[in-house]
Amino acid sequence: MKNKIIIANWKMSLLYQESMDVASAIAQLKGNIPPDVELVICPSYVSLPGVAEILKNTDIKIGAQDLFWEERGAYTGEVSPVDLANFGCSYAIIGHSERRMNLAETNVMVHGKVKIALKNKLAPIICIGENWDERHVGQRDYVLIRELNEILGGIQLQDGDNVVIAYEPIWAISSGKGIFAEPQEVKYVSEVIRQVLIDLYDAHRIESSIRFIYGGSVNKLSIKKYTELPHIAGVLVGNASTKPEEFISLIKNA
Ligand code: PGA
Repeated sequence: MKNKIIIANWKMSLLYQESMDVASAIAQLKGNIPPDVELVICPSYVSLPGVAEILKNTDIKIGAQDLFWEERGAYTGEVSPVDLANFGCSYAIIGHSERRMNLAETNVMVHGKVKIALKNKLAPIICIGENWDERHVGQRDYVLIRELNEILGGIQLQDGDNVVIAYEPIWAISSGKGIFAEPQEVKYVSEVIRQVLIDLYDAHRIESSIRFIYGGSVNKLSIKKYTELPHIAGVLVGNASTKPEEFISLIKNA
């Protein structure tokens, strides 16, 4: 497990051919990715095999944007974690706020997805974060503590498990207006999360298996503010990761 991680979440922003084009541009980066940085690309399901093919001779990893909490069965429209692992995914974003808002995904569902991801050796990228209203009534910490407890409670971690916890304040995602959480706040949140984790796991397990990252309107100018903080292992990048030039500069600036 490398120290730093940059995760690109392409959401549904890129169609198939655009995904191939951006993946080809990123593949050219070989050798220019800082050695301590792990780079993970999360394309749409349809683009995933094509992107995996383009990146197969690089160190760049592939992640899914979601998965289902069962391995197979009568679940119309869902995608099996077994297939995702077989198609070369090593990560899966789970519980993104866009899924919580648009598809009513709950912490119970996220819990099930984290469990099945770990079973299939897919590293879960667990997204948590408060919305604007919760923030304004001073409930940020409460929301994060509740989410983490409901998602991770009862999940044992084993040697070799790799878990990423992404603080993604909902008000900062896709803001398009340069609205993001200040690094000092992200540092504070990392401490809150650590306190919750200490109740769930022993210190060795936290050190060896869990990394904390930030996501929300990160761009090539702001990335360093986050990656230079010791408590933050990296970032989850949406919009800026879909534009090859911006994303390549962002990686170099990490
Ligand atoms: P953004 O998206 O960088 O466009 O704000 C981040 C995310 O949703 O993961």
